[in-house]
Amino acid sequence: ARRTTAEPAKREEFSGQLGFILSAVGSAVGLGNIWRFPGVAYENGGGAFIVPYLVALLTAGIPILFLDYAVGHRFRGSAPLALRRVKRWLEGLGWFQVAICFAIAVYYAVIIAWALSYFVYSFGLQWGDDTAGFFTGTYLQLADVGGADPWFTLDFVPAVLIPLVLVWAATIVVLAAGVAKGLEKVNVIFMPLLLLAFGTLVVRALFLPGAVDGLDALFTPDWGAMLDPNVWIAAYSQIFFSLSIAFGIMITYASYRKRRANLTSPGFVVAFANSGFEVFAGLGVFAALGFLAHEQGVAVGELEGLTGPILAFVTFPAIVSQMPIGWLFGALFFGSLVMAGYTSLLSILQVVSASFQEKFGWTRRQAALRIGVVAGILSVTAFSTTTGLIALDTVDQWANNIGIVASAVITTVVIGWVLRRTEEMRFHLNGVSTIQVGRWWSFCIVVLGPVVLTAMLVSRIVTLIT
Ligand code: PHE
Repeated sequence: ARRTTAEPAKREEFSGQLGFILSAVGSAVGLGNIWRFPGVAYENGGGAFIVPYLVALLTAGIPILFLDYAVGHRFRGSAPLALRRVKRWLEGLGWFQVAICFAIAVYYAVIIAWALSYFVYSFGLQWGDDTAGFFTGTYLQLADVGGADPWFTLDFVPAVLIPLVLVWAATIVVLAAGVAKGLEKVNVIFMPLLLLAFGTLVVRALFLPGAVDGLDALFTPDWGAMLDPNVWIAAYSQIFFSLSIAFGIMITYASYRKRRANLTSPGFVVAFANSGFEVFAGLGVFAALGFLAHEQGVAVGELEGLTGPILAFVTFPAIVSQMPIGWLFGALFFGSLVMAGYTSLLSILQVVSASFQEKFGWTRRQAALRIGVVAGILSVTAFSTTTGLIALDTVDQWANNIGIVASAVITTVVIGWVLRRTEEMRFHLNGVSTIQVGRWWSFCIVVLGPVVLTAMLVSRIVTLIT
């Protein structure tokens, strides 16, 4: 019979359970944990956010993570191939996920490059006192370029172009080296290092004057928030983005596990490690914000720039500048961003690379090089110019907010309703795993998933177009 795909005969494999867990954690723990979670929790009920957050984790996050694992492991392919083996026409969904991954990679790499250059700036506190002006003006050349082309001005080359080229070069090399020898090795080194660096940072932050006010601001529960549907939507989105589910990543990673590999227990480990890191990051970030408020003599609630790029590249440098031995704190913070972000970037690009290898018979090296070069050029052109921040925001909105929710809706509806293969997936999970999943899992996939996710998707689209 003719082979339907050009898949290489022997599939790559993780060397074992630990390598898999660290790589999956490396994908999950990213910018979302460090700069997204703390601010989102703060804005959505503070301490009370933990309730919708845990509900989202247990009813959607972990169940869909397991579904991804089941599909990838049973059908042994990256997203398009594995889904095609579930049902021929599902291949399209896999390519949709590949497209989302590609789009995210293009901007994610830019942020890592910024973090890399800020890592270097930390040593001399090179951003000075006006951190907002430095970021948008000097650094990004956003302000007052007076119609001049910001390309290849003095700042652009060292601040953006060189780090970006480094990020892409490192990505290409690692992807070309393969799953066990590249991806897994990087994660096995970076994950413990990240924990060490970030752990040091959090402990330091907790001892700053004002830290307690920051923690108060983060954790004081506003129970009324639990009645607000938007808070629930925020919780589900945070879980989705943070766990890297419904992107095809976990399908792809699970396909590199040995045939008889335990799936559910490592899944719980990954999910709880990711959430644990997130809450931990909340402590560090808000303790540091408490310090900044203390220095400025304002309340934490009056500070601006509590999430996203502004938190990282404007607010944090301001904190660093006002601290004793601030450069070290800055280096730990930006170093952590680089490690957390880079391991996530590798995971999204592995999806793209594996899909092209399997579909078109490219070798690993060809795929890594071709995809890396194309995506790299796109990220240089699209995101390093004056419109960079806006482009970034747009891609982020569409890819994260709409794209993955749509992908999750389609997955659960197709598996649960159209093909009715939820039980088959559950038996697969239970056949290889030590911790068995009961009918609660099927209920989450078949009933809760589609209902909650559809509601989310509709509300998202409505907010985006109005
Ligand atoms: N999970 C990563 C984070 O929390 C983000 C990510 C999303 C990574 C999608 C890859 C793909 O930052």
